Amino acid sequence: MAKHSKFPIGIFDSGIGGTSIWKEMNTLLPYENTIYLSDSKNAPYGEKSKQTIIDLAIKNTEILLNRNCKIIIVACNTATTNAIDILREKYSIPFIGIEPAIKPAALKTRSNIIGILATKGTLNSKLFEQTSSTINKKIIRKEIIGKGLVALIESGKLDSKEMTALLSSYIIPLIKENVDCLVLGCTHYPYLVPQIRKIVGNKIQIIDSGEAVARQTKAVLHKNDIINTSKDKSEHKFYINKDKKILEFIIQDCKTNIEIEEKDF
Ligand code: DGL
Repeated sequence: MAKHSKFPIGIFDSGIGGTSIWKEMNTLLPYENTIYLSDSKNAPYGEKSKQTIIDLAIKNTEILLNRNCKIIIVACNTATTNAIDILREKYSIPFIGIEPAIKPAALKTRSNIIGILATKGTLNSKLFEQTSSTINKKIIRKEIIGKGLVALIESGKLDSKEMTALLSSYIIPLIKENVDCLVLGCTHYPYLVPQIRKIVGNKIQIIDSGEAVARQTKAVLHKNDIINTSKDKSEHKFYINKDKKILEFIIQDCKTNIEIEEKDF
């Protein structure tokens, strides 16, 4: 076992959304220690300039490196698509990123029309454009900027009238356009699946990348010989730079050894 294997996995997001990735990862790799940064003070990243997103990604990375993280999961589509190449150039540890799952959607669609709900920062990024250019040219992409969704989730209004109205305004036009797969291109959005289901019923498949990211993390830990082979109970530290109530609510179903701290960063 490599000497770094007990060191934590670092994860960051513009807020609490990356916990959807953390949950998948913790299910697949229950013995890994983790440190999660919820940069809720700066959410949403999706409306910020590319340079600001890069600066925030570097700030988060430095905090996690100072806490000895052996690998970093950029659990944010916006930060991945705008900054992961810079992070990989600048630092020597492995980075795992997340991008909208348009490739699986392209394989699943029957109508050849897929919907992608993501932030402006993700949809306007070069990486998203590159990935989009690799899928079958016959497939029509209906891209929707989910403006306002992250802010509502961060303020705890997941199951609210405002949320239903906003989601409906984005999704009902997609149903009318014969979209049969909806890609959730933001790590906050898996928390909206119950609300989305109420709007679309079973007419549309909802696709996200969480499980794929967890599998990729496991593969990269193996490849670098830094997987934690100890069977000690894992420890999980969550830092949030705003009120921690929404974070506590969102991970209340997790039965692991979790500590949540409000901290300015
Ligand atoms: N969870 C982030 C993502 O996956 C949300 C982006 C934002 O803060 O706007 O893109």
